[in-house]
Amino acid sequence: MATVTFDHVTKRFADVVAVDDLNLEIGDGEFMVLVGPSGCGKTTSLRMIAGLEEISAGSVRIGDRVVNDVAPKDRDIAMVFQSYALYPHMTVYDNLAFGLKLRKVAKQEIDKRVKDTAAMLDLGKLLQRKPKELSGGQRQRVALGRAIVREPAVFLMDEPLSNLDAKLRVETRANIARLHQRLKTTVVYVTHDQVEAMTMGSRIAVMNEGRLQQVGPPQELYDHPVNRFVAGFIGSPAMNFVDVALTGQGADAKLSAEGITIPLPGRFRQVVGPTTDRKLVAGFRPEHLELGETADGAARVDVKADVVEYLGNEEMIHASAGGRDIVAVVDSAARVRPGDILELHVAPGKLHLFDPETGATLVAERELLPA
Ligand SMILES: Nc1ncnc2c1ncn2[C@@H]1O[C@H](COP(=O)(O)OP(=O)(O)OP(=O)(O)O)[C@@H](O)[C@H]1O
Ligand SMILES: [Mg+2]
Repeated sequence: MATVTFDHVTKRFADVVAVDDLNLEIGDGEFMVLVGPSGCGKTTSLRMIAGLEEISAGSVRIGDRVVNDVAPKDRDIAMVFQSYALYPHMTVYDNLAFGLKLRKVAKQEIDKRVKDTAAMLDLGKLLQRKPKELSGGQRQRVALGRAIVREPAVFLMDEPLSNLDAKLRVETRANIARLHQRLKTTVVYVTHDQVEAMTMGSRIAVMNEGRLQQVGPPQELYDHPVNRFVAGFIGSPAMNFVDVALTGQGADAKLSAEGITIPLPGRFRQVVGPTTDRKLVAGFRPEHLELGETADGAARVDVKADVVEYLGNEEMIHASAGGRDIVAVVDSAARVRPGDILELHVAPGKLHLFDPETGATLVAERELLPA
């Protein structure tokens, strides 16, 4: 097992900065997920760990060793890609054994590792089949198995589930999580799917345009996003953002926009200061909007429901407030219908505020205090 460390790592392709001054420490045995929109530098970061991409500046360490100039085969890593290619003419057994044979591992040892891995991935009965005789999910498990038999110090996975249908993806996701609990090997896992990131990662590193935005456990990113980008990226459906104007002072300070009134929560008073007439961006998650009378101190959002999506236990309401789209998720017992005029509210503790220029989160006093 090993740690993986990015120390001021930059990668340029001609004039494109794919990864910009990345600093990240991945702990021994940790399941770290790199997540972010297409083109943000996830695959490039992973390929630098693997040694498949030269590093323009900074250094990558595996354990204590700087690996910038170490050949991929000497890095003790195994990689699972989105488009895994199994050897079509070989059986599952030989696909699993192939890498070990190349490394001249003893035959008995190969047999033991292949069988152990197959048992772990429930491939025991399929060892004599060829890839074309397997389902997509079974093939994906063989691809994972090929990485596992090598017993590497670090697993690198680049969107390994993206070729699977929704149901298989959920199953395989759980399989990988179980495997990690069992093997306790360091994993660096790349995905652009925030649900995958939230469910699998012990920590998540959110990237955008080559830059690391925030790294932390899933719940920390959900509860305390450092900026508007992370706030909008983590959580599904995405957080609602509204441009609001600050008026009044002290206990009378409020944030408003058409159809929306938010008493400024006390914890923000200090950071907002005595200025009035300031513009801010308010953020609140769809699942934190509640139907019914607004309690004192809560934000009030008056909307008209446009579309209601019934989801079984919940319903998702696409509504408008002053020409702005607002998404709310409420208990389906509410039976909201299109055209309904609704009063929604948000508890003050669930409100996020952002600087409209920088996108940075306004950090409230309470959050500045040590826990
Ligand atoms: N070989 C290359 N030559 C030039 N530019 C490249 C090369 N590889 C990647 N890039 C650029 O670097 C940036 C980061 O690419 P990268 O593949 O790391 O993104 P990603 O986060 O993995 O995206 P996706 O989710 O689409 O896979 C992109 O702007 C991409 O166009
Ligand atoms: Mg990629």
